[in-house]
Amino acid sequence: MLFVATSVSRLLSAKVDFHRALHGWYRTHARRLPWRESPSLYKTVVSEFMLQQTQVKTVLPYFARWLAALPDFAALAAAPDAQVLKLWEGLGYYSRARNLHRLAREIAARPAPPRTPAEWRELPGVGPYTAAAVTSISFDAPVACVDGNVVRILARLTANATEFRDSAGAAKVFAPLAGALLPADAPGEHNQAMMELGATVCLRQNPLCPTCPVRAFCAAARRGAPEAFPRIAPRQIEHRSVTRVWCERNGALLLHRAPAGAKRFAHMHELPLADQTGVAPAVARRGRLLAQKRRAITRFQIVESIHLAPPPRRKMAADLVWVPLVELDAITLSGPHRRWVTEILAARTMACRQNAGASWRKP
Ligand code: ADE
Repeated sequence: MLFVATSVSRLLSAKVDFHRALHGWYRTHARRLPWRESPSLYKTVVSEFMLQQTQVKTVLPYFARWLAALPDFAALAAAPDAQVLKLWEGLGYYSRARNLHRLAREIAARPAPPRTPAEWRELPGVGPYTAAAVTSISFDAPVACVDGNVVRILARLTANATEFRDSAGAAKVFAPLAGALLPADAPGEHNQAMMELGATVCLRQNPLCPTCPVRAFCAAARRGAPEAFPRIAPRQIEHRSVTRVWCERNGALLLHRAPAGAKRFAHMHELPLADQTGVAPAVARRGRLLAQKRRAITRFQIVESIHLAPPPRRKMAADLVWVPLVELDAITLSGPHRRWVTEILAARTMACRQNAGASWRKP
C-alpha cells in the first residue's frame, strides 16, 4: 500500500509532464472516428450509448446508418419505436436504444440541453461514465471518465495490486485518482486521450508498452509486469441449456415477439423457447436438431439447441406470431437469432438444392 501511495504521489507531482506526453500523443495518433469529426452533442451522445459495452469497430457501421437515418435529436424524438429498434438490430443490449430514444424526446422537449453531469444523470440510460463523457467532451465539464480502460491505465501507472471483486468496485476506487489527474483546461480531450490509450496501447493483453507515450510514468512497466494489473476476481461462470423450436407453416416461421412492456427485449422477435409453444423441452428435443449454438451473456455460458417442431396444435399465446419468410428482413430479430435464422435457412436451401429437401422437412 505504501508503494501505491508513493506511485500515486509521484504521478500527481508529474501531472503537467504526464498531460503533455498524453495529449501530444493523442493529437497525432488518435483514430479518426466519425463522432470526432465535426463533433456535436448529438453525435457524442449517440456514440457514447453505442460504445457502452461495445467495441469501436462494431459500432462504426451502426453509427453511420443511424446518423444517416436520424441526424439529430428532433429526428430521433419523432422516430417510431420500430425504426429505432431496427437500426439497433444486432448491436445488443437493446435497452440502450430505448433509453436513447426516450432521452432524445426529453432533450427535444426542452429549450436547451442540460450541461452538467448531475443533470445528465437524471436522463434515461445515463450512468456516471456516460454523463462524464458527454459533458466533458461537449461542455468541458471538469469530470473524469472511469471505465474499464481507465481503470487498467491507472492500476498500471500506480502498480496497484489490490484484488477487486469486479470492475465496478475497481472504478469506485480509482475515481478519485482519475479526478485528481484531470486537467482544468481540457477535460474532454484528456478523457478521450485516456480512452484512446486504453483502447489502442494499454491493452488488457500484450500491451504495446514500447510505443506508450506515458511509459516513463508507469510503475507497472518499470516492474516489467503490466499485464498483472488490475487484479479483478474472476467471474463465477454458470452453465445453462436452452431448447428452442423451429416451426414453419405455409411459408411462415413461428417467432416469439416480446410484449411492449418487456424489460430487455420489448418488440424484438426470437425463435421461441419450447415452453413458450406449450411443449416441454424434453419433448421438443426429440425433433431433429437443426443447430446448436454457444453464447455467453454476462456470467452465463449458454448452449442453445434449435429443434424442428410441428406447428402448435393448441391455440397459441398472443406473443407467438407467424412471420412470412419473405418478411423476415423487415422485422427486428435479436442479433444471434438473426444469424441462426439466416444460417438455418441457408442450410435448408443447400439441402433442397442437393435434392434433400424432403428429408429436411421430416421432424
Ligand atoms: N469508448 C467510450 N467512449 C469512447 C469514445 N468517445 N471514443 C472512443 N472510444 C470510446
